[in-house]
Amino acid sequence: MKAIIPTGGRGTRMQPLTFSTNKHFIPVANKPLIFYPIESVVEADIKDILITYNPGWLDVVKSYLGDGSKWGAKFTYVLQEKPIGLANVVQVCEEKLNGDSFVYHLGDNIFTKGIKEVTDYFRKNKPNGMVTMVHHPENSRLGVPYFSKTNRLIKYVEKPKNSPHDFAVPGLYFGDHNVFKCFTGKNKIVPSARGEYEIPSVFQWLIDNKYRVDVIEYKGKWLDPGKFNDWIESNRYLLDEYLVDDMGSKIDRSTKIIGRVSVGKNCKIRNSEIKGPVSISDNVEISDSYIGPYSSISSGCVIEKSHLEDSVLMENVRIINVKQPINESMIGNEAEVYDLEDPTHWIKLFIGEKSKVRV
Ligand code: DAU
Repeated sequence: MKAIIPTGGRGTRMQPLTFSTNKHFIPVANKPLIFYPIESVVEADIKDILITYNPGWLDVVKSYLGDGSKWGAKFTYVLQEKPIGLANVVQVCEEKLNGDSFVYHLGDNIFTKGIKEVTDYFRKNKPNGMVTMVHHPENSRLGVPYFSKTNRLIKYVEKPKNSPHDFAVPGLYFGDHNVFKCFTGKNKIVPSARGEYEIPSVFQWLIDNKYRVDVIEYKGKWLDPGKFNDWIESNRYLLDEYLVDDMGSKIDRSTKIIGRVSVGKNCKIRNSEIKGPVSISDNVEISDSYIGPYSSISSGCVIEKSHLEDSVLMENVRIINVKQPINESMIGNEAEVYDLEDPTHWIKLFIGEKSKVRV
């Protein structure tokens, strides 16, 4: 069995961060998002992993992921010419799958209790296709399963307006070689009204052509950090549930540490209060500041005389003199936030397209 993990897509919901960064490498709880799917797949004993990418991204993706040896896995990079849909990601992997069955784990989904149990169900029961489902209050922005009176999956629709229940299908799909039949012949799948080859079309094709498609409920917490609010919430959840104390640097005695805090190497933290759960990477400098719960601070950040909580800072961010608490924020690589202490209280901005400033 092999795995497929995509790194493509347009990333529109995470603009402006995705103007310069691929969404899959933005950190959640101080770890690039895509590391979570990789870890889940490897933990389910799948070591042969196909990583798909869109043109222009191969060097970046490889620089983060390498050949897979970091996870004891083997990565094969597969080009998806255009981000025209999740079904197309499967289609471009056909040759490299070479007849094997597969698990397809979206690169922006986190299954917090791993996927071993559901993968073992698929291995043991050998349906032709399989999806999982979770309860979700906003299933109109997700794939939704519909069942017969005997609880067989009869219909599976992408982002329906009204659904009779709150079940949704998250980004974890299983299939065998029969899946590829949906891409050929006169009843092959076609793009949806929004122009994408949707993943539900693949399973709908299997159902309509009398193949066996199973659905099982995923019992763990599923996170979908696809847009800003969900990203902050996922960061909060992961720090809350999984952060462990780890002091990688010597902390100055003038600093007070409360609760679970993880600090990387070569950090300089002086005269501050850090209240966990907080995760701080390497080479971070913090002085005369308060860092509150659910802060995730990437390497090279500098925070002086400021107050930060419940936020994600990417690399080399500088926050200087900002006493007014920064809360529920995401700040991109090398961005700077300064309070000039200008008595006119002017706000001076040098910000790019689609930035959001709330003062
Ligand atoms: O998150 C779960 C949902 O993911 C499912 O419930 C939906 O049925 C499924 O269609 C998908 O919906 P999204 O609208 O959230 O998909 P998104 O466009 O964000 O893409 C999901 C992942 O696939 C992400 O890792 C980017 C990647 N991707 C996407 C497209 C369209 C590609 O690599 N290539 C593509 O062509």
